[in-house]
Amino acid sequence: MEVSLTLNGSPRTVDVAPRSLLAQVLRDDCGLDDVRLDCETSTCGACTVLLDGDAVKSCAVLAPMADGSEVTTVSGLPRHDRLGAVLSAIESPDVLPCGECLPAVSVVTAALVQSRPDPSAREVARALSGTVCRCTGYASVVDAVVAARTTEAT
Ligand code: FES
Ligand code: FES
Repeated sequence: MEVSLTLNGSPRTVDVAPRSLLAQVLRDDCGLDDVRLDCETSTCGACTVLLDGDAVKSCAVLAPMADGSEVTTVSGLPRHDRLGAVLSAIESPDVLPCGECLPAVSVVTAALVQSRPDPSAREVARALSGTVCRCTGYASVVDAVVAARTTEAT
């Protein structure tokens, strides 16, 4: 069956099996390896994308359910203004050493900053609670997001 998406700002139609996962379609049919696929059980959050503006685990969404939707992966996130400053801040290897979780952390952070341009440390930590980072205790990410929004605002 055909599924039509607006994918990172461009129209895209793919032929998918009815029970294929959105994460698989994004990676295998659309070539977006910035969508990580680690646990495939809706646990780690590595596959998180924006679906009509909401951060969702794309391994928990059947591709046909996304028909007609806007899907944004880390490579399609807008890089201007406050969000751009925040995303640049978390891309430092000092913040996320191995980078495996960076796409998901970026998407989750983008969803937060777009709805709450001035999030508190607690709000950042809460937003990241569904995204596993095996290298940090999240403090570096929270600090970077809070520092970036403070810097950008001054
Ligand atoms: S790969 Fe989707 S939540 Fe882990
Ligand atoms: S930086 Fe390695 S998993 Fe997050």
